[in-house]
Amino acid sequence: MYQEIDFDKIDIHAEPPIEEPDRQYYYIAKCRQWAREFEKKNGRRPCFFIQTFGCQMNEHDSETLAGMLIERGYVPGDSKTDVDLMILNTCSVRENADKRFFGTLGQLKHKKEECPEYTVAVCGCMMQQQHVIDTLKAKYPWVDLVFGTHNLHQFPLLLQNVMEERQRIVEVWPDGGDIVEGLPAKRLYPFKAFVNIMYGCNNFCTYCIVPYTRGRERSRRPEDIVAEVKALAADGVKDITLLGQNVNSYGVSPHGRDGYCAQAENGPDFAGLLYLLNDIEGIERIHFMTSHPKDLSDRLIQAFADCDKLCNQIHLPVQAGSTKTLQRMNRRYTKEQYLALVKKLREAVPDISISTDLIVGFPGETEEDFQETLDLVRQVEYDSAFTFLYSIRKGTPAERYDDQVPEEVKHERFNRLMDVLHPIQAKKNAIYQGRVEPVLVEGLSKTSDETYAGRTESGRTVNFFGDPSLVGQIVPVKITECKTFSLWGEVVRP
Ligand code: SAH
Ligand code: SF4
Ligand code: F3S
Repeated sequence: MYQEIDFDKIDIHAEPPIEEPDRQYYYIAKCRQWAREFEKKNGRRPCFFIQTFGCQMNEHDSETLAGMLIERGYVPGDSKTDVDLMILNTCSVRENADKRFFGTLGQLKHKKEECPEYTVAVCGCMMQQQHVIDTLKAKYPWVDLVFGTHNLHQFPLLLQNVMEERQRIVEVWPDGGDIVEGLPAKRLYPFKAFVNIMYGCNNFCTYCIVPYTRGRERSRRPEDIVAEVKALAADGVKDITLLGQNVNSYGVSPHGRDGYCAQAENGPDFAGLLYLLNDIEGIERIHFMTSHPKDLSDRLIQAFADCDKLCNQIHLPVQAGSTKTLQRMNRRYTKEQYLALVKKLREAVPDISISTDLIVGFPGETEEDFQETLDLVRQVEYDSAFTFLYSIRKGTPAERYDDQVPEEVKHERFNRLMDVLHPIQAKKNAIYQGRVEPVLVEGLSKTSDETYAGRTESGRTVNFFGDPSLVGQIVPVKITECKTFSLWGEVVRP
């Protein structure tokens, strides 16, 4: 582990070692020396800013990048241009994420012209697509470094080469290599952490780019995950979110590739992993995402009943209500199967909060199909939902479907879906009126410097008058007002 290495003892004038991890350590030492020289020359440490465009996994990758930079002598800055190094961590799940990235990149051109020392690095899911690399090469000469999702751990080494040679580097791996353990991370909150349990996706839903940008499924070893969570608990973390594109297939490696395979090694599956993590002292809340409905096991439902730290909340993306649409999406469950699963979950865990993802306007979706989505939403009564307009993704099977839905139809359906979802969400929140809920206090609320915001076990935001001493604590809050998207309350003082 990095923490035990004395980097000052490494001879950075010698040839770089060939073997890992010595090669990494050599470059860390080199980078630290570079940062010290920078400080001598400029009277301050080199400063970085990371803009993240994607999902929690993408956010967690940014935390790892920040952790690696801080370890090497950099400090975080708070603006895109007033720093020495700008990193854009991209997402390609929908077209507007692509557009926002190119828009932001365009804004940086001016800064680069003014200050050639300003370094621009781009990474993340978009970089795993050849057409994006081609565009960057042809039209964005002010980008200094391009790397992908599979070689994130190489970032410091690549950055050091850019700094020393002041020439552009593009290094993207087509597929995932071995899982690299022990990378540092700079967390947004000291008391909350993301923990990757697996990488990649094997499901190939026909609309989705993720299997192409994140590669095939690989699971981390349970002992590495347990060790990481124990270290996090020792560092003051109370709340962990386990991340994977489909956590339900943790430990299942159908391709027999690298990574952990529960069956071959007679080790824990996802539910088994939850039991192990539930025993770790100091951890008080465990969440996970995302769960594919086709793989949700009875053992997982049982884990909700058995594991006191496992929060009564599940994100169970349905995507659409019509079985025909689900089939064309390659989701591998029917509307009826999904509804039966929700019923089973609610019978076992009566107060479970269920959230979902919904896509409107998937190719071939008729008004009748859309009505099936509305019907499903009314039947399930989701606590919350993320809703998306279908967006054509280059290289996915649905790109070639010739029955694309016109934009105006998608928008109109989207609005009607909101009209159904929001009153349900308000009704679900209203149940909390008068209850006393344990709330993990996150800090000042985004909109005010007087009110504090925290989360219930089910992930609902609660605002209340508080004080800084409560931040990071789980405190009882009496809910006094329920709105559609948030709750208000009062701290119950002993
Ligand atoms: N692995 C997760 C989701 C990853 S992407 C899962 O299986 O649920 C997050 C969400 O983005 C998806 O659930 C889906 O609702 C949405 N999404 C993915 N591709 C999309 C596309 N091409 N157009 C619109 N929404 C999309
Ligand atoms: Fe995409 Fe489907 Fe994999 Fe989720 S399960 S990441 S939606 S392909
Ligand atoms: Fe996440 Fe976007 Fe990649 S949703 S996995 S950052 S394409």
